[in-house]
Amino acid sequence: MQGNFAYKIHKTPVMKEIRVGLIGFGTVGQGLAHTLFNQQETLRRKVGATFVLARVADLSVEQLPPPFSKVPLSDSADDVLNDPAIDIVVELIGGMEPARSFLLAAMAEGKHVVTANKALLSVHGKELFAAAAEHHVEIGFEASVGGGIPVIKALKEGLVANKIEVLRGIMNGTANYILTQMTEHSIPFADALADAQQKGFAEADPTYDVEGIDTAHKLAILMSIAYGRHVHLDHITVEGISNLKPVDVEFARQFGYRIKLLAISRNHGDHVEARVHPTMVPEDHMLAMINGPFNAIEFRGDTVGDVLLYGQGAGMMPTGSAVAADVVDIGRNMLSGAVGRVPALSYQSDYFSDPVITPMQELRCPYYLRVNVLDQPGVMAAIAGILGKHGISIRAVIQRGRQAGTEVDIVFRLHESNEAAVNKAVAQIDALPATTLPSVKIRVLIDDRE
Ligand code: HSE
Repeated sequence: MQGNFAYKIHKTPVMKEIRVGLIGFGTVGQGLAHTLFNQQETLRRKVGATFVLARVADLSVEQLPPPFSKVPLSDSADDVLNDPAIDIVVELIGGMEPARSFLLAAMAEGKHVVTANKALLSVHGKELFAAAAEHHVEIGFEASVGGGIPVIKALKEGLVANKIEVLRGIMNGTANYILTQMTEHSIPFADALADAQQKGFAEADPTYDVEGIDTAHKLAILMSIAYGRHVHLDHITVEGISNLKPVDVEFARQFGYRIKLLAISRNHGDHVEARVHPTMVPEDHMLAMINGPFNAIEFRGDTVGDVLLYGQGAGMMPTGSAVAADVVDIGRNMLSGAVGRVPALSYQSDYFSDPVITPMQELRCPYYLRVNVLDQPGVMAAIAGILGKHGISIRAVIQRGRQAGTEVDIVFRLHESNEAAVNKAVAQIDALPATTLPSVKIRVLIDDRE
């Protein structure tokens, strides 16, 4: 039977049970419950164990729906935390407290934990990872970045033999959906946001999505793993997309770019960049082609070169898949006596230190600058003079034809320039008598594709 393989079962494995306690039966919690239920047989075959949803705690659910009706439900997390039969506690309530206390309490009880809580990890990660090490338990957080994309596992394990030189990507589906809608349908930001909220991608408070905060949470987590540094939310410079106008999207297109909300970190050896902001991406770059609510995360490793991971960054089942992957990883390590095999942040904790972040004022990149001015003689010369005085070189310029009023948008594409110089120039341009609105500055991707 050439080309045909038959599997032989030599012995019946002893089936173990891994018992999971879930705090929070919201969208992602349901995703996990359904995944463990739907994939039970597949996981049994892959792992040699049965993963059981043993207990659920949720404040607002009165009864679990089928097929979970028989799973014990409580409105107190303590019932999960104090159940000695539970091996892994999964926290999916989000927010700082009581999520932080629940995770610390579970770990103090010797239970392994899994969380999707990016906001919590980007602020209290140092404390939580230290607690996991102290109590010799595992802490899984795959679903905290990139929804269903196995980005954390890829970074910790697949790319372990690399120094990460560049880490960047689209890490918020809501913002990407909004920018895609603005690009494809020329609609204002507010209309695109309302549409995203209606489709259910947005966080409870969409400010986190549109002001780049959710993206910064995720960047802090990935940077911590990539560099072996405790990167905190406060290390990251964050600008959102709420002041972008359809006109910016249109000009970007004319220059051959798409505007994306990017998380960017470049490793300069003794310091690392940490920034989230709208970015003009060349239209033939792969990140420019990521549309709708999708996420994509790009790494450049010194051994592997460029790697791009793409997929659904939010949603019940994709995120449930990622949480389940953590549960299974922990279960496998428990079964093989290998708990702690892969450190939570990839590096041994002895090597961890605080990061040195590149000051934003030292950044050098190309820029897009939109200036709204009265259409008067000499205005263009005045702006060009200010840019020249600050050592900023103009690569291209477009002026929109005069409209009904007397204001016009002049858009400059600037060669690679220094952030501090651009900021000083913008302040002077905005102080000109002919300038009618604050100028809009968008950084352009440093296009260093290999
Ligand atoms: N609100 C987030 C997003 C969900 O839009 O990507 C996943 O973090």
